[in-house]
Amino acid sequence: MPISSKKNTKVKKQNSLEVVKPIKTKPYNDIDLNNWKLYENIKTGTWWEFQSREKKNGHSYDYHGNYIPQIATQLLERYTKKDDIVLDLFLGSGTTAIEAKNLQRRCIGVELKQEMTDYVSAKFSPKDLVVNINIIQGDSASISIKEKIQTRLEIMGKTSAQLLILHPPYDDIIKFSDKKEDLSNCASTDEFYDLFKKVAKNGYDLLEQNRFAALIIGDKYANSRYISLGFECQKRMEELGFVTKAVIVKNITGNEKAKGKTANLWRYRALSGGFNIFEHEYIMIFQKTKLKKVKSKKIE
Ligand SMILES: C[S@@+](CC[C@H](N)C(=O)[O-])C[C@H]1O[C@@H](n2cnc3c(N)ncnc32)[C@H](O)[C@@H]1O
Repeated sequence: MPISSKKNTKVKKQNSLEVVKPIKTKPYNDIDLNNWKLYENIKTGTWWEFQSREKKNGHSYDYHGNYIPQIATQLLERYTKKDDIVLDLFLGSGTTAIEAKNLQRRCIGVELKQEMTDYVSAKFSPKDLVVNINIIQGDSASISIKEKIQTRLEIMGKTSAQLLILHPPYDDIIKFSDKKEDLSNCASTDEFYDLFKKVAKNGYDLLEQNRFAALIIGDKYANSRYISLGFECQKRMEELGFVTKAVIVKNITGNEKAKGKTANLWRYRALSGGFNIFEHEYIMIFQKTKLKKVKSKKIE
């Protein structure tokens, strides 16, 4: 159960009079800061580890490359209010949409593969698909997708989204389709960065001012070297105007299927190749905000 549904007022005795503290929240979530000690489930550190993947409340490990639902839970609790709209531009199997519904948020999700949008749509009732969850088949890097999303936002009574989630392919590590628009199917890693930036730009334009964006991404090895997909994508986010708020390292060991079978093989390859085995991915948090200019002191 989300902590935000817990009792939101605190009663304090003062000279035998009962004082009810007013609820104090930020404009971007429902966390009552006057009761901040109640929110033990919300992670505020930069190291995230979950014992196992959540498989209840509509979630299942039904898509190679879907993220664990607890990531969506954390992001939605921390960066949205009830009824807010989360925009996910790489919807995949719909983890974000399912968790948005569980937490009484709304979602617009874009996914390139028609079979996936059909599959995810079947997880929701026809009423949900009209009122709360909008699923669009399309290319998130295209200009035309922006107009489609804006139309859906208007139908939902908003002009912009309140949270942006980006969980792109990690370049070509998992190939999702043969489509030329697919970020997992780029001719080079530079092309991947270019397409990623186009998607992130659409997200930036559609996000409400002062709201947050989350990028979930891992790095890769290719041609005997380490490729920092995460930090390169972070750089593109900053170039677009996003301000980095956090870089979280998430332990991925234990969340994946059947890794044990190949563990020895990878250990041998690591020992012989001089590299280390990936045990982490990043969850990077950004805000669409204007940074106050820092006045530099004149040196006499
Ligand atoms: C890492 S998966 C996202 C998984 C998702 N978070 C989940 O939990 O199921 C990336 C997804 O991006 C999709 N994709 C790749 N290129 C795309 C594009 N240009 N526009 C929209 N979706 C795209 C892939 O088909 C894939 O489903």
